[in-house]
Amino acid sequence: MTAALPIIDLAPLDDGDAGLRRVAAEIGAACRDVGFFYVVNHGVAASQIEQVFAESRRFFALPLAAKRAIAIDAVGGNRGYVALGREALDPPQGGDQKEAFNVGLDLAPDDPELLAGKPFRALNAWPDLPGFRAALLAYYGSCGALAARIHRAFACDLGLPPDFFADKFVRPMATLRLLRYPASDGAGDAIGAGAHTDYGNLTLLATDDVGGLEVRKRSGEWIAAAPLAGAFVVNIGDCLMRWTNDIYVSNPHRVVNRSARERYSIAFFSDPNPDAEVAAIPACVADGAAKYPPIRAADYLKRRLDASVIAPA
Ligand code: OGA
Ligand code: NI
Repeated sequence: MTAALPIIDLAPLDDGDAGLRRVAAEIGAACRDVGFFYVVNHGVAASQIEQVFAESRRFFALPLAAKRAIAIDAVGGNRGYVALGREALDPPQGGDQKEAFNVGLDLAPDDPELLAGKPFRALNAWPDLPGFRAALLAYYGSCGALAARIHRAFACDLGLPPDFFADKFVRPMATLRLLRYPASDGAGDAIGAGAHTDYGNLTLLATDDVGGLEVRKRSGEWIAAAPLAGAFVVNIGDCLMRWTNDIYVSNPHRVVNRSARERYSIAFFSDPNPDAEVAAIPACVADGAAKYPPIRAADYLKRRLDASVIAPA
């Protein structure tokens, strides 16, 4: 029997400095080990999460033409609909058996960065579903606030001022992603999401009760990240791993839906401002040599996203 992922209670985060330190130590230990943990008492209302799952079901039930009308290639800026098989997170395994819908920072049509054609600045595209937009944007805000609280714990654990990351996430490239994995047909285990590491700083994942997320530990062993009601699965992404000079680990994970039920999950990828410089945190560089040169966050994310999209035939 393999030890499951740690479960971290975030309630003490609101108990002042001592609480922050306690949570930071737990989060830091998880980030240096498996890079995955559950959070409970995270402050996002269960009713809000349920509402987004309901909107997700309504969205994916739309006719394919309605979803295609807001396809990611047409919308741009990493926003819009991704069809089944279109993305391959582990390219040798072929296209992922999932479909997705991405929402980014919601911009006004006259946003100066949008007008200037800055990377990852685009208008969100919305399906014709009353209430959908409001529900997703409210949830985007809740996840952003939770990600900011967790970043304070990272900073504290890394010996930085708690607000170290705050100015790097003012207008982030964060992406809210609805995901649907078709039911298994029993003929073999379709890869829902090929083995991959996430690209950003951290991911907040809400899942239904179907299961199928698997995490590879440092030992190489794969373990199931079983659904835990009311919890988010949190994992470190490659951008934070790079920022910490590999002190925090971004671990490979995958989704295999072995169930006869379709599976829904909701991911929030917390990526920094496009112009944030991702450079090794000095306290993480023990021998004076950073493993990676500094990079602009937008360049890093673009490079990673481009590698996972199957070119149109
Ligand atoms: C991802 C991911 C897991 C899930 O989208 O990067 O790992 O359970 N998703 O959908
Ligand atoms: Ni992932």
